[in-house]
Amino acid sequence: MKKILITGGAGYIGSHTAVELVKSGFEPIIIDDLSNSDVKVLDRLEEIIGKRLTFYKGDCSDRNLLEQIAEEHELAGVIHFAAFKAVGESTMQPLKYYQNNLGSLLTILDFMKAKQIKDLVFSSSCTVYGQPDVLPVTEATPRQDAESPYGNTKKICEDILMDFVKSQAGIRVISLRYFNPVGAHPSAKIGELPKGTPANLVPFVTQTAAGIREKLTVFGDDYDTADGSCVRDFIHVMDLADAHVKALAYLGEQQDYFYDVFNVGTGNGNTVLEVIRTFENVNGVKVNFEIGPKRAGDIVKIWADTAKINSILNWHPSYSLEDSLRDSWNWQKTL
Ligand code: NAD
Ligand code: WQD
Repeated sequence: MKKILITGGAGYIGSHTAVELVKSGFEPIIIDDLSNSDVKVLDRLEEIIGKRLTFYKGDCSDRNLLEQIAEEHELAGVIHFAAFKAVGESTMQPLKYYQNNLGSLLTILDFMKAKQIKDLVFSSSCTVYGQPDVLPVTEATPRQDAESPYGNTKKICEDILMDFVKSQAGIRVISLRYFNPVGAHPSAKIGELPKGTPANLVPFVTQTAAGIREKLTVFGDDYDTADGSCVRDFIHVMDLADAHVKALAYLGEQQDYFYDVFNVGTGNGNTVLEVIRTFENVNGVKVNFEIGPKRAGDIVKIWADTAKINSILNWHPSYSLEDSLRDSWNWQKTL
């Protein structure tokens, strides 16, 4: 069984990916410092999977800990999820973001080269596209200057990966550019755990429906879109998790020194107001919301062209927006 190190594997996307990896015959080894997750996720994963996953609590920039893991496990690959991701906080504390998001990648790459671990899947983001002129965005759409230090870390990490692969370090890398991950495992045993007030739309919607937040503010309704609210490509976290499994399988077929990048979205754009209405309809609950001012720096509309990942990785999403919003609500109800 191929062992895959999952940095940030106790987090939202990492935990769902661990489930999908096990289903596909991989053995995930999780390293997470729990800076944005809870150790209880390991119990929940055990309930879903039926066995305890190997877990190291610690910073994936800690080279000694990585050495220890490599002594205890023969690693075939790494999926590097670990990063800080709060866009607003990154503008206030940029060094914290550059340190963790770039520093952890540099350590992981040096470690992989030293241990001859070949395959890496990296968590990138559609944030690298900024507001594109032409929609949907393909992987060839030019990247733009980042809106935030967080976004910039993703862009720089992609550049580091390209340079590292070119240097004939002997590793094969795929960057997955996630669009907007939503939903939760259909069992409602794992899901997103936002700390404090959620910055993202769907956790804010579910917390408002649950009465934790009094009111959701829709940031603007006079944009040039179907109903005036912004448009995003909301991808179910289980489909996103599956893309990592497909990416690893594909990497295994490549020559050394391979780098490529794939969009991971549904290919459909939905407005913020559509999300609220769909959430209400599918779950039979009301969301108290009002229209408020625009959020500074918001992207007006973006959705993915998924032709590349569909054809090359043979990856296709199987969950609808309704499924995502039902699963997000079922998860919220457990909190
Ligand atoms: P998350 O915060 O739920 O998961 C990240 C995990 O990494 C957390 O469990 C955290 O404790 C851990 N972590 C952070 N720094 C660490 C370190 N140095 N060492 C060990 N563990 C560390 O976030 P997520 O939503 O699962 O995101 C995973 C990845 O996907 C991140 O790289 C994020 O930037 C990227 N991404 C997320 C989104 C999104 O909207 N959720 C969109 C695009 C890209
Ligand atoms: C979605 C839409 C808001 C909250 C962020 C990061 C980006 C990437 C994905 C990681 C927008 C609207 C939101 C609210 C609202 N993450 N909204 N009221 O803006 O696509 O991007 O997540 O890489 O880097 O910036 O996601 O969930 O914040 O917002 O009206 O209370 O919902 O204006 O149009 P976004 P989001």
